[in-house]
Parts: sequence; structure tokens; C-alpha cells
Amino acid sequence: MHKKLFIPGPTEVRQEILKTQSKWMIGHRTKEFSELYHNCITKTKQVLNTNHHVMWFTSSGTGIMEGAIRNIVDGKILHCTSGAFGERWFNISKACGKDAASIGVEWGKAIKPKTIEAELEKGGYMAVAITQNETSTGVRQPIEEIAQMVHEKFPNVFILVDAVSGLMGDWFDIDKLGLDVVVASSQKAVALPPGLAVAIVSESALEKCRTVPGRGYYFDYDAMMKRYEKNYQTPTTPAVSLFYALDSELDYILEETMKRRYERHLEMAKFTRAWAKQHFALFAEPGYESVTLTSVKNTKGVNVNNLNAALGEKGMQISNGYGRLKEQTFRIAHMGDLMLADMKELAAAIEEILKL
Ligand SMILES: Cc1ncc(COP(=O)(O)O)c(C=O)c1O
Repeated sequence: MHKKLFIPGPTEVRQEILKTQSKWMIGHRTKEFSELYHNCITKTKQVLNTNHHVMWFTSSGTGIMEGAIRNIVDGKILHCTSGAFGERWFNISKACGKDAASIGVEWGKAIKPKTIEAELEKGGYMAVAITQNETSTGVRQPIEEIAQMVHEKFPNVFILVDAVSGLMGDWFDIDKLGLDVVVASSQKAVALPPGLAVAIVSESALEKCRTVPGRGYYFDYDAMMKRYEKNYQTPTTPAVSLFYALDSELDYILEETMKRRYERHLEMAKFTRAWAKQHFALFAEPGYESVTLTSVKNTKGVNVNNLNAALGEKGMQISNGYGRLKEQTFRIAHMGDLMLADMKELAAAIEEILKL
């Protein structure tokens, strides 16, 4: 039985997209693949309104987070953490042997520019890493204010952004904010199956990577760009079927327009937040709620596993709280190609099951 996914990844994938993946295989060293990959790059730039370099890798989000660290970091990096994925990025830097420090806030809170500024002022940092949308807590960081502060006060510090669960649902202007590396993966607001991940890289970040020793092999931005500029291909074998899917989904997004896609996400978010406040409470700090998922404080002590099992019988699935927030919160994603009507259907189903 098909369960409609209201989980923050993998998200619901339209059947049309699923079918696109069953096209005949093509070689990745052919003109056909070059055309397909080039189209994906061009359309991604159009959707995101960016002139930065765009590279789609065959990887999950974690891989591309590691790639960003390997390519850019040759000194001290500051990780700003407000949940599990910020902490993961910090752990990745340490696992890569980097000189990494972290500042954190309590889960559920957003990390503010002032907190980051106070740490950067201590000096010696060459990069700062921020989770734009913390999927474990449903918090959206004030990325606009953070980027502005970093540029004004620390113009030489590179800004690395994990937008895994925000990109192509939520909106922030990558070029205007001067973000150096933004990473995301396919199975969240892009509404594709898992397996692809994108890095959006500024010119200065690309130049920087060329000077970083031991930047690794698989995620080497320089090698990726050289291959792209040579013949619109990738250095290693890409997940060709997923690129068919990406190409179709990008057409869909371009037709909807990113502006309307963002507005649709915001509309679903507002509906879900209002519903959650009516029956439970929100976990995220007021004013910093995620646009792509809502983390609901389980104020009624509902058994989330049982709720999900009952929802499953109605063909729907939500997420339990992440890690230590299990059963204390539950998460409802409103990302990708879901519509307001889907959110209303889910809310009604939960009300019926819990007799709210
Ligand atoms: C904000 C964020 N960063 C990173 C990741 C890790 O991505 P992946 O599971 O694709 O490796 C996730 C996954 O949920 C995420 O939500």
C-alpha cells in the first residue's frame, strides 16, 4: 500500500517522476548524457536564480557536507549548531581532521548573528558552517542576518550552508547573501528519490578549493568543474536514472516558478503551525519556524508510534521526534510537491485517530 510521505525525507515523489527513471539507460560518456547533465545544471541555476557554479553529485546529503569541508577548509572552522544535523557537520569536520570548533544553542532555538559574531571575534576562523533548516528541531536559522553580519564584520570568512531540507522549498537568495557553498540533496524539498546532492559554489570558493591540500578525490570541485567545462560530464559514473528525474522535476519547478513554490510551502507551513498550536504546541522558537517542516511538541503525551501505525492504515506517514526528541515531539513535513489539500487531509486524519 502506498503511504503518502509527510516525513522530512525522503519526501513524496510524484508518479510521473518515478516513471521517468525507467527510461533506457544511456552511457555517461555520450552526447545524450552531456545534454541531460547540462540541462540539469542550467535549469538549477534558473530555479535558484544563481550565477554560482552548480555541481550535482551522486551522493546523499552527508556526502556533500563532507565534500564542502574537504574543498574549503584549510584552517579553523566554526560550526553553528542548533540540532542533530549541525552537530553532524561538526563531527564530519573533526573526522576529516580539521581544526573545528562549535557553538551551540539549545535544541528548538535558532542560532543568532550576535552569538556567532562573539565567537568569530575571538579570531582565527577562515570558515563558518550553518544549518539553514535544522530538520531535527524544525528551526530555520536567520541565514539572511547571519550572512550580512559575516560579510560586514569578517569579510574573509567563507560561509558554508547546509540547506539539505530547505533548498527549493524555502527561499533565500544565494548570490545576494554571498553564500560561498550551499549544499542540499534530492530527497527533501526537491521531491526526488534519494541519491543526488547539489553544491552551489561561489567563484571565490572554487578558487579557494584549488589551494586546499588533501581536498580529496570524489567531491573535488575543481575536477568536477573541469570535466563540466570540457564536455558537460562528471568525473565518475553518475546515477543516470536520477538525472532523468531531476531534469523533469526542474521543468516542473520552472513551470510553477520558485516564487510560487516558496509561497505554497509557506502556506502549508502556516496551516500546519496553526493546526499544531490549536491541538499541541510548536517546538521551534517563535519567529524561527521552518518553512518546510513543523516540529510539534507532544503536549498530550500521544504515543507517536501508535499514531503513525494508525495513519499508515489510512495511507499516510509522519515522523517521530529526532533522536532524543523521540516521543517528545513529532514532525510533519510540508515540503516538495505536497499541496495544502494534502496537509488538510493529514490534519483531519490525525484529528479522527486521536479524537481531537
Ligand atoms: C539538515 C540536514 N542535513 C543533512 C542531512 C543528511 O542528509 P542525508 O541523509 O541525505 O545524508 C539531513 C537529512 O535528513 C538533513 O535534514
